[in-house]
Amino acid sequence: MMEKSFKAMVVSEAGNKQYRRDIVQRQIKDLPEGNVLVNVHYSSLNYKDALSASGNRGVTRKYPHTPGIDAAGVVAESTDPTFKIGDQVIVTSYDLGMNTAGGFGQYIRVPAGWVVPLPDGLSLRQAMCYGTAGLTAALSILHLVNHGVQPAHGEILVSGATGGVGSIAVSILAKQGYTVAAVNGTTDRSDYLKSIGAQRIIAIEDAVDTSGRPILSERWAGSVDAVGGDLLATTIKSISANGVVTTCGNVASPDLPINVYPFILRGVTLVGIDSQNCPMALRQKAWNKLAGEWQITQMETVVEEIPLNELDRRIDKMLARGSKGRVVVNML
Ligand SMILES: NC(=O)c1ccc[n+]([C@@H]2O[C@H](COP(=O)([O-])OP(=O)(O)OC[C@H]3O[C@@H](n4cnc5c(N)ncnc54)[C@H](OP(=O)(O)O)[C@@H]3O)[C@@H](O)[C@H]2O)c1
Repeated sequence: MMEKSFKAMVVSEAGNKQYRRDIVQRQIKDLPEGNVLVNVHYSSLNYKDALSASGNRGVTRKYPHTPGIDAAGVVAESTDPTFKIGDQVIVTSYDLGMNTAGGFGQYIRVPAGWVVPLPDGLSLRQAMCYGTAGLTAALSILHLVNHGVQPAHGEILVSGATGGVGSIAVSILAKQGYTVAAVNGTTDRSDYLKSIGAQRIIAIEDAVDTSGRPILSERWAGSVDAVGGDLLATTIKSISANGVVTTCGNVASPDLPINVYPFILRGVTLVGIDSQNCPMALRQKAWNKLAGEWQITQMETVVEEIPLNELDRRIDKMLARGSKGRVVVNML
């Protein structure tokens, strides 16, 4: 077994329900058990990481802990015949970064069943430009497509559009010929949203109905929602006949104040997206789409790359709703 120290962010309790984040040296021998040791070249910052890095016990039960639900790197050791030293791989979700030391360390050790071979057409850095956000966007769009939503059917509404999942969903949908309406965030980011392919910008106030009506005029052929709450309820009530809405996030609220009318009068479908435990076959299909026909050409508009020592500041910024697009962490 490799005896080596490496750099990692460690989040620990500082008393009074406060948490601190330090970049420290860790030992490979202290990593959890697993069949595959990966030398992480890139990671990325997701909303779930910001929660884990700020002491959210719903995400991470025990501290000290190294967050990072995403990692892309090179196999350094493997006891599983599927992977050999030098293979380029992606690991996202499952328990990575939640209660298993995650991608904000230069090494991770994980079960082979969590590891995805890097698809042809993607570099390790590109894989982390997508990360869990990209995988989630791809799963959402796969469901829209599989349910028969086509560009000719009308506009697709994307909420949380300035964030990681939303930005990638907007970009892929636009590339596939869909007309995308994007919900702006607290800061006006219309120019950014247009630059990644949104054709119409919707102010948050206009995306949330306050009339209390049980069903609203048909506006959208489909929707990718990352925020939940009243915005998602309004969207469901505004979907055209046989339209589809995917739900993956709860940044606004985990509640869904809705009635059955959109479902029984318009045949609307609501699809839940779970990238964490998504079966490997579907996961690989989504990664192959991201590496192939859905690959985003203007990715650098969406992505900012930072070194590990800037991560602390970026986590606070994300929690304060100051983020835009994706943050890739260079772990080399
Ligand atoms: N189910 C899954 O598999 C899965 C996978 C990945 C992510 N997620 C979830 O998806 C959500 C988005 O993740 P992310 O990584 O894209 O986060 P992110 O990069 O922080 O983006 C969050 C987006 O939501 C908007 N937003 C924040 N608070 C809002 C509110 N109260 N009302 C309306 N919009 C609000 C933000 O706009 P502002 O500019 O206003 O801040 C931003 O556009 C999170 O809940 C995350 O946990 C789920």
